[in-house]
Amino acid sequence: MNRTLFLIVGCLVTISCLAACQQAASPDDDGAIVGDPTVGEDLFHNGMDDMPACSVCHATVEGEYPATSFTAGPNLAQLTNRIDQNIFEDYVSESILDPAAVVVEGFANNMYSGYGDILSEQQLQDIIAYLKTL
Ligand code: HEC
Repeated sequence: MNRTLFLIVGCLVTISCLAACQQAASPDDDGAIVGDPTVGEDLFHNGMDDMPACSVCHATVEGEYPATSFTAGPNLAQLTNRIDQNIFEDYVSESILDPAAVVVEGFANNMYSGYGDILSEQQLQDIIAYLKTL
């Protein structure tokens, strides 16, 4: 009887361990972090705790502009068509972590510059994955 109970508990522990492994951040084959566009979309439009939402300054629908236009950045709809695929991830990640490095022509260096201290690597990849869907 005790042995059966032991086996059942053992099975339950194994099953919950497997479930936990599947929920962990999803590294791809190279061990690189894979972004989740759904999480990225939420961060972009809603921000979190001390993180200002990107949508305060960036619209994602063609032809739209955010309400707070004095700090507005470029409309990010179709960003994948404007930026070369080979440099997309590097370019976007630099734009987020170090906005002053390249200031887009026609815009002021007005982007919030604290994201590097706030975003985890996973969250950065989530946002990049979302920008790829625009
Ligand atoms: C306070 C306003 C503001 C916020 C908040 C903001 N940005 Fe920006 N962003 C700008 C401005 C202004 C520019 C253009 C100047 C520059 O290149 O730094 C810009 C440029 C960019 C560019 C380059 C676009 C291009 O056409 O080449 C990307 C990509 C970008 N931002 C992504 C983001 C993301 C993602 C977030 C949220 C994590 C964010 N921005 C939050 C104002 C903002």
